[in-house]
Amino acid sequence: GNKLILDTDGGVDDAQALLMLLANGKAPDAITTVFGNVGLEAATRNILDVLAVAGVSIPVHAGADRPLTQPVVDAKYIHGEDGLGGAPRPDRAAPVAGNDGVMFLRESFRAAAARGERIDILMIGPLTNLALALRLEPGIVAGIGQLTIMGGTVNGRGNTTPAAEFNIYADPEAASVVFGAEIETVVVPWEPCTTHFTPASEMLALFAGLGDSAERRFSEALAHHAMKMTKGWSGQDVFRFVDPLAAAVVIDPSIVTGTLEASMDVALAPGLTRGMTVVDPSGRLGTPKVTIVETADLGRLEAFYRASITWSAAQA
Ligand code: BDR
Ligand code: CA
Repeated sequence: GNKLILDTDGGVDDAQALLMLLANGKAPDAITTVFGNVGLEAATRNILDVLAVAGVSIPVHAGADRPLTQPVVDAKYIHGEDGLGGAPRPDRAAPVAGNDGVMFLRESFRAAAARGERIDILMIGPLTNLALALRLEPGIVAGIGQLTIMGGTVNGRGNTTPAAEFNIYADPEAASVVFGAEIETVVVPWEPCTTHFTPASEMLALFAGLGDSAERRFSEALAHHAMKMTKGWSGQDVFRFVDPLAAAVVIDPSIVTGTLEASMDVALAPGLTRGMTVVDPSGRLGTPKVTIVETADLGRLEAFYRASITWSAAQA
């Protein structure tokens, strides 16, 4: 299969998504980081720490520290000051491979195209890095295989503003560039992230049944934090799959049970709807059609997640 790059803003569910990829045979070949849930530096450190906990070595390239045009926003109110909800850190982690995330994407896709190959990319943060690479060199689309995005909404009800989902809200101009590009794209919007969940009681029982290890403690802290936040915001006592749902779609596309083919674009005007995604099955929007995930096999999703908390690279 194609090589895979993960582009991430280093939040709690980004960490879960990365662990899920590692544990289910889809380790990314490289990772690029971006500002978002926390600032770029914290996001990058978080990803390096996740890799250290997992005992896996993957090059991490830090990318954009701010959106294309608007001021930086973050989601520390969700992911905690450190971006990982205070999860216990490993003693040491590898250094960053470079502060060249955007150039790294550009060179990787360009080189792939020159070899007649394509590289897949999974994006679970703001779309800034890819937008910048596309702006510098539109021709890199020839080297991009499948682009999978966690972001946007189908029905226009957001999680950050009433209309906008965080990853799009954090850089609407970047999202607009990416949705305008001729790339084979799968979008996991906010809605299925709220309808695919495990009751908190089941999640707690799962952890209670596991032996002690640094990985388990790390994953448990992430899960606890995520459930606390979900409860605070929605009142639901559940573990929601957000970025991990997008990771699961990359691990095995056959997990998807329902999709919608539609054009997608982003409202950029200031005001109530800024950062809202507009979804158009009729194609009148004019942007290339993408595949929007609506439903997935929850049992298999849970199995992928379980693998990520009981798995250890040392034992593999
Ligand atoms: C998205 O925003 C971040 O908080 C999550 O990691 C996810 O990528 C959900 O809107
Ligand atoms: Ca994220």
